[in-house]
Amino acid sequence: MNDQMLADRLPDELPGDPMHWADAWIKEATSANVQKNPNALTLATVSATGQPSARVVLCKHFVPDPGYFVVYTNYESRKTRELLGNANVCAVFHWDSLGRQIRIEGKAVLAPESESDAYFASREWGSQLGAWGSDQSRPIESRAALLAQIRERGELLGLEFGDGTGTLNSDDIPEIPRPPHWGGIRIWARSIELWINGVDRIHDRALWQREIVQASDHGFSVAPWTGTRLQP
Ligand SMILES: Cc1cc2nc3c(=O)[nH]c(=O)nc-3n(C[C@H](O)[C@H](O)[C@H](O)COP(=O)(O)O)c2cc1C
Repeated sequence: MNDQMLADRLPDELPGDPMHWADAWIKEATSANVQKNPNALTLATVSATGQPSARVVLCKHFVPDPGYFVVYTNYESRKTRELLGNANVCAVFHWDSLGRQIRIEGKAVLAPESESDAYFASREWGSQLGAWGSDQSRPIESRAALLAQIRERGELLGLEFGDGTGTLNSDDIPEIPRPPHWGGIRIWARSIELWINGVDRIHDRALWQREIVQASDHGFSVAPWTGTRLQP
């Protein structure tokens, strides 16, 4: 991260590494503790009929070279079903207090299983249980039924609950494996726009684009970025 990346203006000569700028902005939002989830973004997917839908998710890894980021979710959720049918997605990060917005468009693919395993293993047991307990995006008749389902699945995993599903009777917590229906989504950037709030709505805005070509199940080969300043 350099000072220029965190200045309140984009340089006249646009940098060739916008993903590093985005990374620096996410890191600053995190270190400055600007909001409860500084790594939150809105992710939009498109259904088979062309209906867009959007929801907030958390960015857990941002990899400026070669240029993708990773979110974790249920692979049977609406968003995953949609992006497996149409890999074109877009994402928006916004930090009001920093006056910055990042828009990314690109292609989504599943993350390698080893990466999902490693991240799942790093989570605390309550989050691990949540991944097993909820059939994300599917209907359920009541909150009580959801809690009963989570408890039942937790017991099958060897958890001994106290009251409800938030406390355990024993400190001896069994190892919880990653559910096969839960893991990472890599979002490879094909375009990125950086936006900085300006006085009198004279904002700074620039768009970078590049070609990306899928080279493997999880990866793309990428061309260099071309940047263009946009009117606000
Ligand atoms: C601050 C915040 C963070 C969230 N983080 C995630 C996340 O990382 N992964 C996830 O699957 N859902 C996350 N959610 C829930 C999603 O917004 C959404 O309800 C869920 O993923 C189901 O979306 P879908 O039915 O469109 O697939 C988060 C919600 C909020 C408000």
